Amino acid sequence: MIILDSVDSTNAYLKSRRNELSDCAAVTARLQTAGRGRMGRAWAANDGMLPLSVLLKKPPFPATITLCAAVAVCNALERAFPEVKTHIKWPNDIIVSGFKVCGILCESVCFGDSIDIICGIGVNLTQDGDFFAAAELPHASSLKLLTGMECDRMALAEDIASGVISLSRTGFKCVYEQYKSRCITLGRQVKLIENGKESLAFAEDIAQNGFLVCTDDRGVRFEVNSGEVSVRGLMDYI
Ligand code: BTN
Repeated sequence: MIILDSVDSTNAYLKSRRNELSDCAAVTARLQTAGRGRMGRAWAANDGMLPLSVLLKKPPFPATITLCAAVAVCNALERAFPEVKTHIKWPNDIIVSGFKVCGILCESVCFGDSIDIICGIGVNLTQDGDFFAAAELPHASSLKLLTGMECDRMALAEDIASGVISLSRTGFKCVYEQYKSRCITLGRQVKLIENGKESLAFAEDIAQNGFLVCTDDRGVRFEVNSGEVSVRGLMDYI
């Protein structure tokens, strides 16, 4: 594990050094100053957030790494905080007690007909309530706020990284049932937001390829790809 004091973005760090680094290189930092989030958003942080990125060179199942990473994070968090029950808001927000405690951003680099993936994970470990209020993140919280507990930051980073590496090799198939059982999006009315356009649907299932299977108000089934659509609950975030 490469351990930095401060970095703009652990994803950017691996992306720019991809050629010199070996497969499965992982990087973390005490502080990330310009974190990237999904849908082009920024990812706010102070040193209470654990940033971690893993470089996966030519992975066998690139499309579903992000879902595998969500399962790896849940498993590692439940080992580090035994009293915690983790859930997943499709595709890859990690939820504890209704709050987002971790986000995942997989970025790809294509070359020829190959692809490398940089899997970036940000875990809210010890930020306080003032941090989330100032960042205007009412749906986010930290493990410390929710449990009163802290864990060994490096041990957690190592555990998550090894889970991501191992599940990236076995593929989504192996954790499909586990993913579904953790997924709190299923069985709910959801608002789909695509290019600023909103529509309502019912979240029925997760397809084998990781897409969200929905039905519209006429009962017509369709699949939603995580790269293109943002999902919100009708009443609130989940
Ligand atoms: C999200 O929007 O939910 C995804 C957030 C991903 C943040 C992590 S922190 C480590 C890695 N480096 C980044 O710049 N982003 C990811």
